[in-house]
Amino acid sequence: MHYQPSRVPLRDGRSCVIRQATSEDAAALYALDRAIVRARQGIVKHEDELPPDAATFAAGRESAGLHKTDGTAFPLLVEAEDGGVLGEASVLRIGYRMLRHVGVLGIGVHPAAQGLGVGRLLMQHLLQWVRSHRDADGQRVLRVELYVRADNPRAIALYRSLGFEHEGTRRAFLRADDGALVDDLLMGLLLT
Ligand SMILES: CC(C)(COP(=O)(O)OP(=O)(O)OC[C@H]1O[C@@H](n2cnc3c(N)ncnc32)[C@H](O)[C@@H]1OP(=O)(O)O)[C@@H](O)C(=O)NCCC(=O)NCCS
Repeated sequence: MHYQPSRVPLRDGRSCVIRQATSEDAAALYALDRAIVRARQGIVKHEDELPPDAATFAAGRESAGLHKTDGTAFPLLVEAEDGGVLGEASVLRIGYRMLRHVGVLGIGVHPAAQGLGVGRLLMQHLLQWVRSHRDADGQRVLRVELYVRADNPRAIALYRSLGFEHEGTRRAFLRADDGALVDDLLMGLLLT
């Protein structure tokens, strides 16, 4: 199960490549995750709660199944012309057979590359990939879900524009840096 890479323009005139992320990208994805967490927008972690090094981060991705090529995982990244990773997004299907038609989506764009269309590109390509996938027995992903902080209007607008609907609220789910309690939203998209 492989994704065909493509070259696409960004809003600032540069071009980038969107391609499948592999286990070899773990160090770059770890650096990306650190940069996003440091920027303190839209995240639920502190920097000292990240894995201590790239190898531990890589092991975590492997054990989560993010690089399985049997239709379980759909990991994408956007790479700049200089090879730097600008953003990543993935859908990971739930393992239980009764839930295997459900994929959980995660996305992050480097703070220096936000607002250039990277997030929308990732979402569009990822959903297209997921929609077109068929397992050997013809099964496919029928539902994609994600969680998003209620104080993240940029991300919520992006998801809504792609058809995701607000399905539920985890009230007072997280404590923001200023101490305020913030809700978390469950959003879902049916691919039926
Ligand atoms: C949320 C995030 C993924 C969006 O990616 P991005 O590359 O910055 O967004 P894009 O440039 O592709 O813009 C996508 C959409 O976001 C929305 N958006 C962008 N900037 C916005 C702003 N300043 N205010 C409100 N909405 C905005 C718009 O709906 C935009 O739609 P458009 O394509 O019609 O202009 C990215 O900013 C990010 O990773 N943020 C930090 C981590 C995070 O929030 N992750 C999501 C956790 S659920």
